[in-house]
Amino acid sequence: MASESSLMENLQDHHLEGEGQHRNPSEVKMSQIVLPCHANNCRELSIGQLLKWMDCTACLSAERHAGCPCVTASVDDIYFEHTIGVGQVVNIKAKVNRAFNSSMEVGIEVSCEDLHSGRHWRVCQAFATFVARRTGTNKVQLKQVVPCTHREQVEHSLAAERRRMRLIHHDIMQDLLNNKTFQRSISEGGIVYVPGAESRDELAAVSTERTRVESVELVLPPHANHQVNTFGGQIMAWMENVANIAASRLCNAHPTLRTIDMFYFRGPSQVGDRLILKAIVNNTFKNSMEVGVCAEAYQGEEPLRHINSAFMTFEVLDENGRPRPLPPIKPEPQEGRRRYQEALARKKIRLDRKYIISCKQTEVPLSVPWDPSNQVYLSYNNVSALKMLAAKNSWVLSSKKNLVSLYTVEESQSLCFRVESEVDVPAHRAFTLVSDLSRRHEWDQHYTLCELLIRVNEDDCIYRVVTPSVGEGGKVQDFILLASRRLPCESGDPYVIALQSVTLPTHPPTEEFNRGEVVCAGFIIYEVSKSVSKISYYNQAGPGVLPYISTDIAGLSSSFYSTFCACSQYLMENRVTSPLLASATL
Ligand code: COA
Ligand code: ADP
Repeated sequence: MASESSLMENLQDHHLEGEGQHRNPSEVKMSQIVLPCHANNCRELSIGQLLKWMDCTACLSAERHAGCPCVTASVDDIYFEHTIGVGQVVNIKAKVNRAFNSSMEVGIEVSCEDLHSGRHWRVCQAFATFVARRTGTNKVQLKQVVPCTHREQVEHSLAAERRRMRLIHHDIMQDLLNNKTFQRSISEGGIVYVPGAESRDELAAVSTERTRVESVELVLPPHANHQVNTFGGQIMAWMENVANIAASRLCNAHPTLRTIDMFYFRGPSQVGDRLILKAIVNNTFKNSMEVGVCAEAYQGEEPLRHINSAFMTFEVLDENGRPRPLPPIKPEPQEGRRRYQEALARKKIRLDRKYIISCKQTEVPLSVPWDPSNQVYLSYNNVSALKMLAAKNSWVLSSKKNLVSLYTVEESQSLCFRVESEVDVPAHRAFTLVSDLSRRHEWDQHYTLCELLIRVNEDDCIYRVVTPSVGEGGKVQDFILLASRRLPCESGDPYVIALQSVTLPTHPPTEEFNRGEVVCAGFIIYEVSKSVSKISYYNQAGPGVLPYISTDIAGLSSSFYSTFCACSQYLMENRVTSPLLASATL
């Protein structure tokens, strides 16, 4: 009960923050009272029905922005936090966070309301991508979303990061499956479910064959929009139905759907299609199971068209609402064995995504161990943490010297600062120069040494940075930093260089150095004009950085000013690309 009321408060804060009287023009709301016809045999709203309502609300929001018919292209991971009972009200709110070219991200919030007590609580949040349907052979160019409130600005900025991640989702999965170390750890049993599984060992293994489901649906006009395209939500609902049957067959009980992994609609379906839906349990973990579902369509003699594949995680709750241990499974040879292993890979990705991305920034543990399989999420987290820090609306000007300003935000757990000024250097050039950390010692006396450890890709590098000792006679500090760069996604966006600590097994802390940690730092560079840029340096000061800045904030020194002047001088001196360097990099 207590947790529900705190959820309600969070939800209300969430709604109120920065919204004021403003109503987003693309915002669409839907409220539905849950009737027995929407519920399963436990009198809970069926998730399939909820997915239909969510998709419909989001589609209407997308169409309101686009002014033309839109289709669901993909939906990011969804975590269902609560079930909803018959008689309760579901409130769904959707709005377009950002439009790209022909696609746009729609944010969907689902909450539940108890009419008797008046309580509200959050059920889930989702991000769906809708694509404006082509007119003939031409792609539609959507108008941009202009964020008005503070919250809309944050969502607009983060939407670009989420898009980047969803477009490479398939490749991440393939890379992980092909990764030799990962394959070895699976075959050695290294990442198969771990401790505390004693009760599980006593359970007899269940053959997955027993859980296999195949079902057919005929797409009728009520399942489609006015363009005769099948609603994405309807397909998801049919997929959830067969997944639920497969999960129930494994546990002979009522399963509860907890997550749906990010998925993509590969191709459209229309009225008259026959949809074949197939599901099977791919693997069970200590307290949960992964069910895979595949949806294919055909008409008449046509070959099957692959529409969608989704992976859903179910739990089975005991009478106290705690997840029950599930029996291990016996996969069939070949396909079953492969899916069993791929389910392990997806579990890893799911956990990486959930704990690195979906958690609030402050809940992310410091210095997550870096490895190629979680690189994408760490990079996302690095950039989005900096964007969130920059977007705080509680920045106050602490001091100003000439044209260099020092701003701070004091929070219960941390002190954040920002140093900002304009320089007569084009934004792109400033970005190139500042993002090369190996040259930072040329202007920043705090960077005694900076070695490049791993060039992950053209946007991300891992460096080891050595800085002087903080107190007298103290040890010299070192940091392992992931530097993630982003070019503007469209005009008006800034250049971003985000810095965050990671741990690397190859570079453990040593006796000689104090290992420092950077929670969140970096540069945001805006183009003011073709030849002038505004550079802001941000840092959420951890103990290693605090002593450098606290004297400035207290007004006892202005080292922020001298460091910024040195940076500005370095940029001016290197304003023009050296012809030698340019030809060397070509
Ligand atoms: N997630 C999110 N967006 C994606 C995506 C994914 N996995 N893959 C492609 N897109 C986006 C692209 O980024 C592009 O956006 P942009 O124009 O803003 O840059 C947009 O989709 C179109 O991409 P394009 O490469 O031109 O087209 P495509 O041939 O890949 O087609 C769909 C993409 C979504 C239109 C196509 O796969 C489709 O029709 N799917 C079925 C949609 C549907 O009918 N859904 C309802 C249920 S069946
Ligand atoms: P993959 O087989 O590589 O996982 P698919 O897209 O073919 O990918 O299928 C997605 C999921 O759908 C599978 O993981 C499996 O759980 C389920 N599935 C696919 N084919 C069948 C089938 N013939 N019977 C039962 N379930 C199936």
